[in-house]
This record gives sequence, C-alpha cells and structure tokens, in this order.
Amino acid sequence: MVQAPADFRSDTVTRADAVMRGLMADALVGDDVLEGDPTVQRLEQAAADWLGMEGSLFVPSGTMANQVALGAWTRPGDEIIVQRFAHVTTFEAGAAGYLHGLQSMTVGGEEGDFDLEQVKASVRPEFIHCPPSRLICMEQTHNYAGGRVLPLQVFEDVSGFAREVGIPIHLDGARLANAVVASGVSASTYASHADSVSLCFSKGLGAPVGSIIAGRQDFLERARLVRKRLGGWMRQSGHLAAAALHALENNVPRLAQDHSLAQELSQRLGALPGLESDPALVQTNIAMVQVTHSDYDAQALLEALGREGVLVMAMGERRLRFVTHLDVGPEDLDRLEKAARDILG
Ligand SMILES: Cc1ncc(COP(=O)(O)O)c(C=O)c1O
Repeated sequence: MVQAPADFRSDTVTRADAVMRGLMADALVGDDVLEGDPTVQRLEQAAADWLGMEGSLFVPSGTMANQVALGAWTRPGDEIIVQRFAHVTTFEAGAAGYLHGLQSMTVGGEEGDFDLEQVKASVRPEFIHCPPSRLICMEQTHNYAGGRVLPLQVFEDVSGFAREVGIPIHLDGARLANAVVASGVSASTYASHADSVSLCFSKGLGAPVGSIIAGRQDFLERARLVRKRLGGWMRQSGHLAAAALHALENNVPRLAQDHSLAQELSQRLGALPGLESDPALVQTNIAMVQVTHSDYDAQALLEALGREGVLVMAMGERRLRFVTHLDVGPEDLDRLEKAARDILG
C-alpha cells in the first residue's frame, strides 16, 4: 500500500474523521435561506458565545468572512488600516479593492509588527482630498509572520484609541483558537477589543469547510446583505455546520499538541546543515525554516522533500513554512527529519 504523504503544507489539509463524518451525515438540516437551518443556528450561537459577541453568520471560507466584514463596515473610496502582510492585503487577491472599492493603508513588515503608534500615524485627517479611514484590521494569529501571537496589550492600546476616534476594528481570527491556547487569554477577551471577528473551522480546528463572522446585531444586519451579495448564504449547510460545531466543541485544547510539535520541528530541522530555524519564534502551529544550503533554495528542497512523500510550502526564495495540525504527528516529524537529513547530507 502506498504511504500517505506527511503533509505540512497547511492546517487546512485535514480530513474529517469517522466521528465527524457521522455527525455531518446525521445533522438536522433545513434551508438556511428559507425557514433556517437548525444546525447552522446552533453553530452561529455557539461561536458567538465562545467569542462573547451578540451573534454570528456562517460563511463558506475565511476569505469570505473577512470580505463580508469589509463590505459591511465601509463604502467605496474608504481606506482601511491593515498590517502589510495580513491575509486581507496579501492573500485575498485584491478583493478589498475589487469587491468594495477600498484602498489599503498598510503598516509594518514581514514579522507582523502592528502597534498603536503605526495605527495613529495612519489615520487620515478629515480633509476633502483624503480617503476617510473607516476600518482597522487586525490578524490573530498572524499567518505570514509564522503564527505569531499579537500581545493583548496591543489590542488594548489600539481599541482604546479606535473607540476614541470612532473607527471600528475587524479582527481576522482565522486562527484565534491557536492564540487562545498559546497565550491563555480567552477568545472573548480578544474579541472584546474588536467590533467584528472572523473565525475559521477548517484550519487547526479540523473541519472540512466553514467560517463565521461575528459582531453586534446592527453589524450583522449589514453583514447579512453583503453575504447575500457575495453568494455566501448556503442552503442545507447544517451538514457542514455539524462538523464545525464538533470542531469548536472538541478540538480547541488539543491545539497545544500542534504547538509543541511545531516547536520540536523547529529545533530538529534547525539543527540540520543548511537549515536555520529559531524555536523561540515558534509561538503556535507554524514553524518557519530558512534554507541556507548552497545547493538548495526553498523550491528545490520542497521538490526533493516531495519525492520522499513530505509536503511543505515555500514562503519566499529561501523560506519554508511548516504547519502542524490534527493529521500530522511525531512519526511524520521523524519522516521529515530523516528525508531532510538524507537530502542535505
Ligand atoms: C489569517 C487568515 N485569514 C483568512 C484566511 C482565509 O481562509 P480561507 O482559505 O478559508 O479563505 C486564511 C487562510 O489561510 C488565513 O491564514
């Protein structure tokens, strides 16, 4: 039998196990656009409770959750303040401009730095020649920066200022659960500093599909309209919501295992010739590895590992991103280390 690959490309690659598939098959469903879907409603309530927010809406993806928020908070010609390497600016194919006519004021660098001083310096004066600053976007954990956790203090500082000047905050919490487990700060504490929060079930939590966008009722009313316009209001989506609900109720604490595996991965790969990785920078389930070897860049090493059944993603010419999740364990790390050692000599 052919061995399944050890897949470190992303925490999005997980497959639903038998329990999750059973729950999906047996889910009580309705037409969410007509009379409503009871399982979707349970999920929306559970996610809102977890975040300490008034309500939430189920959508197909994290990208749609973010774009629903952007559309609900802004008008064409507005400007959003966002980290330079945030998912919203870097990996959503220009959707903020394409869908909503927004301009982005980006701050910070590859390490995901984002603080009050940068935000303050980015707010436009009220002046007819300037685009109005209408939304601040934060990301927790920061994907591009290697799953970095933004300190709670930054949320306190930025939200204090944002409330003074009347600019709402959207939190891209695709991996908020990882930040909760790594920092010990509750989801509702982080969310209390934002006006809308997105959360993904199909990343570390292990569901096959789905995200929610949460906020107060007045926000949700506008968000419902944007979701409709984007085609994200689904029908018997209770089958998907059942998996997401199971993921939210069962798979949060176990993220600690993913975090320690990512730590170990960074230590073990960083000790190999031609690779560098700093475990001190690994805060959650993402480990970045620099390829310093003279014969290999990130792409060449990625291809060589692929031939050994180990999958990984390149994030730059000499940078590989390894992500740990439900479907990789210590034996996959052994396989990765052996393959890397054999390749690099
Ligand atoms: C921080 C962050 N936000 C949003 C998304 C988008 O999620 P999706 O792939 O479900 O659209 C991702 C995906 O990796 C992400 O890392």
